[in-house]
Amino acid sequence: NEGALWGARFASGPAPELAALSRSTHFDWVLAPYDIAGSKAHAEALAAAGYLEAEELTAMHAALDELAADVASGRFVADPGDEDVHGALERGLIERAGAELGGRLRAGRSRNDQIATLVRLYLLDHAGVIARDVLRIIDALVAQADAAGDAIMPGRTHLQHAQPILLAHHLQAHAWPLVRDLERLRDWRERARVSPYGGGALAGSSLGLDPALVAERLGMSRPSENSLDGTAARDIVAEFAFITAMIGVDVSRLAEEIILWNTREFGFVTLDDAYSTGSSIMPQKKNPDIAELARGKSGRLIGNLTGLLATLKALPLAYNRDLQEDKEPVFDSVATLEVLLPAVAGMIATLRFDTARMAELAPQGFSLATDVADWLVRRRVPFREAHEISGALVRVCEQHGIELHEAGDEMLAAVSVHLEPSVREVLTIEGSVRSRSAAGGTAPERVSEQRAELIARAQSA
Ligand code: ARG
Repeated sequence: NEGALWGARFASGPAPELAALSRSTHFDWVLAPYDIAGSKAHAEALAAAGYLEAEELTAMHAALDELAADVASGRFVADPGDEDVHGALERGLIERAGAELGGRLRAGRSRNDQIATLVRLYLLDHAGVIARDVLRIIDALVAQADAAGDAIMPGRTHLQHAQPILLAHHLQAHAWPLVRDLERLRDWRERARVSPYGGGALAGSSLGLDPALVAERLGMSRPSENSLDGTAARDIVAEFAFITAMIGVDVSRLAEEIILWNTREFGFVTLDDAYSTGSSIMPQKKNPDIAELARGKSGRLIGNLTGLLATLKALPLAYNRDLQEDKEPVFDSVATLEVLLPAVAGMIATLRFDTARMAELAPQGFSLATDVADWLVRRRVPFREAHEISGALVRVCEQHGIELHEAGDEMLAAVSVHLEPSVREVLTIEGSVRSRSAAGGTAPERVSEQRAELIARAQSA
């Protein structure tokens, strides 16, 4: 087989069961363009070290360009006899450049340093796509926050009414983790832009090839400091899998709230028809499937991360074939996010909020009780006592089936001499959110400032 990269020391070819197990072309074929880019850079390093004449380098590059075009058009595909993308492409090169020239390219490199470099190149490209998709969700959240203005909703802890907050504050609270995910991708990129190419199988090349030249041609910042580490480490891949899982988890928390808000019981949002699904039996159904898939796919992304970490655990240096198992999980994480994130962005951008219903519910469940306690503290009542007074007022109101602002003067006075009628000034949801004006709080002017900061951080990530 022309695609075999080894064989001379073997009396027989591989058993069919081995070939079936070993073959990786059905998933590593996506690395073909990166493999060819690596080969072009490696050919330059060979030429610089005197192993290819100028005309040979030109012919090698022309053959590799032709091969790249044939891979892109689908004219050149993997053959059942090819073990992996590297072997298949050497076969393709020899078909185009001849065995003499094509057979010179493999000097001084190994599939071990190649694959470690190619997976980084692939992930770097897709990190850009994913970052752009995450930014679209952030933009959609920011646009909704902007449109929400000073609309107020019930803020919750333990899923119970806690304190009123701006809807914009809540939406922005979902955007910040995504901004940090963008920053994680940016920080990861610096570590990922290191090239293991030139490390050979494990110990480095003896041919005087320059790994820095290859790194530079591939758009990497520098070559690996240690050829063993370069070929055997996959922490860069695992870190990428973590970031994709974190994005999935962050989106799942937003998705879960949309699922809740979209129930009849909450009634906070309406999903656009184009971003909801129907039922095959119940004609009336309109389901939040995008949000549910976001919730479900976060589990898959976590599985890809944990599976990869399990593969890496206790693996001795340097390269082991187990490392071939790094690719399918991250390729799947990339494909999952690249189809999920645009759908989530569209769903968020087209949500319609029932702000009247949110405002109506916001003061219910005694959510202004902390405002009563804070009002007492401003009048120099110790907080411990203020908490007791406000709690007692809640109990009395609950017994009478009324909300805090409905308590009459006598009822207030009966609970505590400190509860003068002017306490009602803070018993509105508008007064409550306005009073939370410290940095990071839900007061309208803080929330608008925060939005500007959010946009700036997202854009600079
Ligand atoms: N396909 C392998 C991988 O994905 C790279 C080839 C290394 N094979 C080898 N026998 N050293 O990790």
